[in-house]
Amino acid sequence: MPHTITRAVVIGSGTMGGGIAAHFANAGIPVYLLDITKDVVKASFDRMKKNKPAAFHTARTADLVTIGSLDKNEAWIAEGDWIIEAIVENIDAKRELVAKIDRLRKKGSIVSSNTSGLPIASISSEASEDFKKHFIGTHFFNPPRYMKLLEVIPTPDTDPGVINFVREFAESRLGKSVVLCKDTPNFIANRLASVGGATLVDFALANDYTIEETDSIAGPLIGRPKTAAFRLQDLVGLDIASAVASNLHGLIPDDETRDILASPRVEALRKSQTDKNRLGDKTAQGFYKKGGKEILSVDLKTGEYRARLEPSIPSIAEGLKIKSLPERLKFVLAQDDKAGAMARHVVYNALGYASRRVPEISDDLPSIDRAVRWGFSHDFGPFETWDILGVAETVEAMEKNGASVAPWVKEMLTAGNTSFYRDGRVYSPVSKSYEPLPHDAREIDVKTLPVVQENKSASLRDMGDGVLLLEFHSKMNTLDADIRALLNESIDELERGDWKALVIGNQGADFCVGANLKNAGSGFSPTGPAEAGPSEKNVGSGFSPTGPAEAGPYIRAAEDAVKATQDALMKVRFAAKPVVTAPFARTLGGGAEVAMAGARIVAASETYMGLVEVGVGLIPGAGGCKELVRRVVSPPMQQTPNVDVLPFVQSVLQTIGTAKVSTSGDEARELGFLTAGDRVVMNREHLLHEAKQEALLMAEEGYVPPVRDRNCWAGGRDIRAALKAAIFILQQSGYASEYDAFVSNKLAHILAGGGFSSGQWVDEQHFLDLERQAFVELLQQPKTMERIQYMLSNGKPLRN
Ligand code: NAI
Repeated sequence: MPHTITRAVVIGSGTMGGGIAAHFANAGIPVYLLDITKDVVKASFDRMKKNKPAAFHTARTADLVTIGSLDKNEAWIAEGDWIIEAIVENIDAKRELVAKIDRLRKKGSIVSSNTSGLPIASISSEASEDFKKHFIGTHFFNPPRYMKLLEVIPTPDTDPGVINFVREFAESRLGKSVVLCKDTPNFIANRLASVGGATLVDFALANDYTIEETDSIAGPLIGRPKTAAFRLQDLVGLDIASAVASNLHGLIPDDETRDILASPRVEALRKSQTDKNRLGDKTAQGFYKKGGKEILSVDLKTGEYRARLEPSIPSIAEGLKIKSLPERLKFVLAQDDKAGAMARHVVYNALGYASRRVPEISDDLPSIDRAVRWGFSHDFGPFETWDILGVAETVEAMEKNGASVAPWVKEMLTAGNTSFYRDGRVYSPVSKSYEPLPHDAREIDVKTLPVVQENKSASLRDMGDGVLLLEFHSKMNTLDADIRALLNESIDELERGDWKALVIGNQGADFCVGANLKNAGSGFSPTGPAEAGPSEKNVGSGFSPTGPAEAGPYIRAAEDAVKATQDALMKVRFAAKPVVTAPFARTLGGGAEVAMAGARIVAASETYMGLVEVGVGLIPGAGGCKELVRRVVSPPMQQTPNVDVLPFVQSVLQTIGTAKVSTSGDEARELGFLTAGDRVVMNREHLLHEAKQEALLMAEEGYVPPVRDRNCWAGGRDIRAALKAAIFILQQSGYASEYDAFVSNKLAHILAGGGFSSGQWVDEQHFLDLERQAFVELLQQPKTMERIQYMLSNGKPLRN
C-alpha cells in the first residue's frame, strides 16, 4: 500500500525526539509529541522553541506540534501515519513502548525507533506481523534539522516498500541524505568514529601531544572539520562520548580493534575530566574552557587549565598553505615529525579499520564513504581517501605503520584492480567486480555541466533540456564586475539562443554574500573588480571599490557601478524567457537582490536571506528596496480597496532598517523576500534540479514576462512622514543612534516612493532612481565610511 504521511507521532521529547518533531513540522507535517508526563513534554517543548540554532524554521512552525502525555493521550498513537520512538537508549524501555504502540497503532502505519546503536530487530522481536513489516530503525544526528546524515536500518522483516518509502520521504521531504545500514552495533558512522576517536586520543596521550597539537593536526590539515578531536568531545559531551564507547565495547566481542575503546589512558583522562564536571559545552568547561577573553585548554599532563599553547610544528602551518587536500594530505603523511607521525597513525588506522569492517557493517563502499562525509564532515570518506593516496602504495605504508589491511583489499589489488572507484563505478568486495555507482538524478554536480561562456567570477553552463545555469564562483561568491558582465551576457544568450530558461544558482558555501566592500572605506577605484580577501565583509549592490582615489571620480564610479548592477538585474527581471534563482545559505545584500530579480525563487529550506546594507551605513541600491515594496506593499494595494498601506511599508522599513536576516527559507517568505509563487526545497542537494524543473514548467506553460510599468505603489509624503515619526520615537527612546535614524530616514524616503502629495502607482525605475541617489549620498557620509572600515577590520557592524 502506498504511504502518505499526514500526521506524525513522536514519543520521547528529549534532545532527539524534540528535534525530530520540530523537523517534521518544518516539513509541514502536523505532529503529536508525547512524553511520560505533560510537565516533561511542556518543559521540553518550551526549551525547544528557544533552541539556538533554531530547531523550527519559524516561530509559527511550532504551531504544528501538539504536545501530550502518554497517560492521557495515548489514543493519539492511532492517528499517526508514522510513529517515531525516541525515548531513552534502553532496550527494555523501548520494547515496552513498542508493545504499547503495537496495541494502539492503525494497521499500515510506519513505526521507527531512533537509537544510537541498539539492535533494531530485537526491539521489535515480540511485535505483531503487521508491526514488524512496518518497523524500521532511524539514526538521526543531533541536531536533526541541521545534520545531513540519516542512517536508516531495516530489519529482515521490514517490507521493502517501507524501506523505499522511508528513504524517499527522508530525502525529499525531510531533506536528509540517507545511508541504508545493516543492523550492527552503532551502525556505520558512529562505529567508525568511536574507534577512530579513541585511536586518536590514545595516540596523543601515549606520545605526549598537547590538545592544541592534536586538534591542529587532526582537523582541516587532514581533511577533517576544525572540531578535530578534543573540540568534538566538548561539543558532543564527554558523558555521551564515553557511554557510546563503552556500550560499543560490550557489543562487539569479535571486533579485533575493540580494546582501543577501553584504553586505560583514555579512560583515565575521561575519569579525571568527569570527576571535575568537565563534560564539555554543556557544563561550560571541557577540554577547553573560556577564561575571560581567552580560551584555556587542559594540560594533558597535569590535568589543569592553562593558556593556549601554540603548536610549534612548522609543517602544520606549511601544510595548511597547500590548498588541494590530496596534495596537503600527501605532504603531511610524508613529514618526519610529530604532525606526520600522528597523521600516519590516524589516517592509516582509519583506512584499515574501515576495510576490516566490510562486509560486516556494509557491503558497499559508497555507504561507508558517505556516512563518514555526511555524519562527521570529513572531506573524503576512507575509501575515497585511500584512492587519492594510491591504494597499493598506501597498503605498503599502512603495514609499515602497523595498520592491518583487510584481505579483500589485497585480493582486489592482486586481481589488477588498482582503485576502489573507477570511471563512475565502484569496486564491490562482495561480487569482486566494479559495479555502477548509485546515482540520483536529482543531485546535479555543477562542475560536470558543459560551459557555454565563462570569466573569472562566473560561468554560464548548459544544464541540459534547454536550460542554462549561471554559476557564481568568485571568492565567497561576492558580486563584482565580472559577474555583472555575465549576468548581462546570460540574458542575451538566453534570448538569442535556442534555450528555454535560465537558472541562477551555484554549489559554493553560500549563494552570494553581496558586493565586495574591500577598501571601500579608503576610496573607490573605477578600474575593475576587486580581489576578495578573507577579511572582507560584503554588502550591497555590486560596486567594487579597490583602491584609493579622490572623492569625485570615486563617487561617480560608484554611481555608475550601482546603475550598471540595477540595469543588469532589470534585464534579468524582464527577460523574455523564465529565470529562476536558487538561493541557499547566506544570501545577503546584493545576493538577495539577485535572488529577487528572477521570475521565481526556488530556495533551499536553509536560506539566510537579508538586506544587510544598513550595517555599513548604506541602503540596498540594486532593487532591494524596490522589490520589497513590490512584493510586500503593492499587492494589498492592488487587492484591497482603501487598505491602510502604512503597516506594510513599516514592516519593510523594519526588515531593511534592522538588517533582518531570515533563519530559514520559510522565514524569508514571512519577511516578504519570497512570494506565494516561490518555492522552498528541503534538500539542498536537489535544489538545482528543482529549480530547473520549475524553469521548464514555466517555459512549457507559456511564460510571459512581467509588465514593466506602474507596478509599484508609492505611498507618498504622508506615509513618509508617518515612517519618520516612528524613526524619531525609536531614536528618542534609545533604540536607534542618531546615524541609524539618518540612514533610516533615507530608507523612509525611498520606501514611500519619494514625496508625492498622494499615493500613486509608479514604474520600478522610479524606485531604483531613489535607491541610487540615496546610496550615493550615504557613500559620502563620514559615518558610513567609519562603518565600512570597522566592518572590514572587525567583521561586525559598528553602531555609530
Ligand atoms: P533524552 O534523554 O534527551 O530524551 C529522552 C526522552 O524520552 C525524555 O524526555 C524522557 O522523559 C522520555 N522517556 C523516557 N522513557 C520514556 C517512556 N518509557 N515513554 C515515553 N517517554 C520516555 O534522550 P535523547 O538524547 O533525545 O535520545 C533519544 C534516543 O535517540 C536514544 O535512543 C539515543 O540513543 C538516540 N540518539 C541520541 C543522539 C544524541 O545526540 N542525543 C543522537 C542520535 C541518537
